[in-house]
Amino acid sequence: MSAPKYRLAGEPGEGKFYIETYGCQMNQSDSEVVVAVMQEAGFVYTDSLDEADVVLVNTCAIRDNAEQRIWGRLAEFRGVKRRRPWMLVGIIGCMAERLKDRLIEQEKAVDIVVGPDGYRSLPGLVRQAAGGTKAVNVLLSREETYAEISPVRLDKNGVTAFVSIMRGCNNMCSYCVVPYTRGVERSRDAETILAEVRDLFGRGYREVTLLGQNVNSYNYNDVNFAGLLARVAEVSPLLRVRFSTSHPKDFSDELIETMARYPNVCRAIHLPAQSGSSRMLELMNRRYTREWYLDRIAAIRRMLPECSISTDLIAGFCTETQEDHEATLSLMREAGYAFAYMFKYSERPNTKAQRTMRDDVPEEVKTARLTEIINLQNELSLASNRAEVGRHVEVLVEGRSKRSADEVYGRTSQNKVVILPRMNFLPGDYVRALITDCSSATLIGVPLG
Ligand code: 5AD
Ligand code: SF4
Repeated sequence: MSAPKYRLAGEPGEGKFYIETYGCQMNQSDSEVVVAVMQEAGFVYTDSLDEADVVLVNTCAIRDNAEQRIWGRLAEFRGVKRRRPWMLVGIIGCMAERLKDRLIEQEKAVDIVVGPDGYRSLPGLVRQAAGGTKAVNVLLSREETYAEISPVRLDKNGVTAFVSIMRGCNNMCSYCVVPYTRGVERSRDAETILAEVRDLFGRGYREVTLLGQNVNSYNYNDVNFAGLLARVAEVSPLLRVRFSTSHPKDFSDELIETMARYPNVCRAIHLPAQSGSSRMLELMNRRYTREWYLDRIAAIRRMLPECSISTDLIAGFCTETQEDHEATLSLMREAGYAFAYMFKYSERPNTKAQRTMRDDVPEEVKTARLTEIINLQNELSLASNRAEVGRHVEVLVEGRSKRSADEVYGRTSQNKVVILPRMNFLPGDYVRALITDCSSATLIGVPLG
């Protein structure tokens, strides 16, 4: 099967590429690496699909609905190709890794398939596809961290940036496809992380989010995550530092103490519980119990009382009973989450759960449980926001509010969105504000003094 001849093949500076990103923050961060690699090779980035000679789709495989969305999008690209037959379509990221050449067999519009560890080979593969031979690289690596590549920031507020500190995952949660799509865990050289952060700060960025599938197991030349966090926080007291995602089993007191020592490390911790039932946690291979998890929450509340805590929850995992579900609801109340990402369990091919357990919770039960979880979280988010009303907070302004030209929005250290009157605030400004009102999603503030 050969692709139509690519009109700009091998002419640096002329092949325009467009990239679309699905899935997690790690994928957003990877897309920024991809843009850097493509530009270095002479391709020109465009944010308009209509201009693109190459379309790259950075995909997610975590739940079936994530993949269904991408199949739908690919069918649309087939339509675009009828008008512009030279256009190449590359599927990259987790779904590329999971399905490999099957993607090309199942969808004729696909010309290039590249997994998360193959991005350095992308320019060459695009040229190969342009020459008429479909191109695939789904090799996973034990070493690749794209350490010295300077990502091209796509999220253009100029204030907040993601910095990848590690790749892959060794946790093997029984429901999860990520260890198969992103390979084994490896940490990025701390010096390259610090160089990237210093460069961002020098260019006016005021917040970095350190990213990894399990940042708590970061380890590079005897620098652990608490050590890395301290060094990043020392780049400047004016730089806010966030991190995601933490695994409860590795969430240490040392890390909480480090956070407490640096006021610029944001008071927000994302600590995915997945379930409140120890029986479910065992089946999920999470390697902690409900009691362990609640002990970690208690340690955070004790050492960092002003910290907000958020989570991920899965409704309807294999064999989940009403009692297990109620344990999740009660955990949510006890933890008092400020925010949560909530999902129905979606069976993923070749995971341990798919191989050894039955996806036996009926769809309508999953839906009903998820609805209950979402309704409870709305109450908890509102309560958490109401507690902020009357308080003084520091807001880092990110940009103009979408709702009104007279307002700007930013975030508190707790990661809560605040709407402020615009006045003459600019992205990157720190504004002291009094919180006067809220909804379950946002805070309303007025500047102090
Ligand atoms: N089904 C539903 N949710 C899942 N997650 C991971 N795998 C699955 C799955 N098979 C959720 C977890 C994880 C988040 C990124 O996605 O809650 O923390
Ligand atoms: Fe991110 Fe996981 Fe989706 Fe891959 S499968 S994009 S790691 S959420």
